[in-house]
Amino acid sequence: MIEIKNLSHFYEDKKIIDIKEWKVNTAEQWILIGNSGSGKTTLLHILAGLLKPSDKNAQIYIQKQDIQALSGTQLDTFRAKNIGLIFQKAHLIPTLNVIQNLLLVYFLAGVKQNKTHCQEILAQVNLTGFEKYYPEQLSVGQAHRVAIARALLLEPTIILADEPSAGLDDENTTQILNLLKEQTQKYKACLLIATHDARVKQHFDKILHL
Ligand SMILES: Nc1ncnc2c1ncn2[C@@H]1O[C@H](COP(=O)(O)OP(=O)(O)OP(=O)(O)O)[C@@H](O)[C@H]1O
Ligand SMILES: [Mg+2]
Repeated sequence: MIEIKNLSHFYEDKKIIDIKEWKVNTAEQWILIGNSGSGKTTLLHILAGLLKPSDKNAQIYIQKQDIQALSGTQLDTFRAKNIGLIFQKAHLIPTLNVIQNLLLVYFLAGVKQNKTHCQEILAQVNLTGFEKYYPEQLSVGQAHRVAIARALLLEPTIILADEPSAGLDDENTTQILNLLKEQTQKYKACLLIATHDARVKQHFDKILHL
């Protein structure tokens, strides 16, 4: 599913990432763990094709596709179809309500809108009845769940989640992690969670230390 070789990334002359080889197979669930500043977000952004690694010889294959060989628009389409990204902050569009935030995903991916599917996904994240709520009317945990619903909407084969437990209590953390695990298992997607939260570690057996 994901194959990386000789990936290194520098900011100025400081080496942030140095991974000789790493392979993630179908349906595997990983956590990327490391202290603040260890490069977790940087790695997720590289995998999502939002950032190019500074080492030009790096090899990054996602679904057997060399993502560095894709042009800008090809990469946008590839990302929209294959990768579900959950940022640390929900990043919902404040002027759109919950269902409109979800419908936007179809528009950006250039595929036909499916409102029924949006409602099904909202039900799976326990948000039935919140369709018309605006982001400012949601709690942090609810906004998180909308962001998760949005990332899962097109049934991506790779889910990248950056600190999904940030700012959540133990109960909500467990709920969010279970939700991500259940949903990814359902689609046989692989799940990569970046965190410095030791509470998250107990839920996973595949761990990449950064
Ligand atoms: N655009 C940038 N320019 C220069 N340095 C950067 C840039 N982005 C990140 N860095 C540096 O790269 C390092 C890794 O940052 P990154 O955000 O990947 O860490 P992280 O592991 O996600 O940390 P956190 O747990 O705090 O989210 C940090 O030292 C940061 O200062
Ligand atoms: Mg980070």
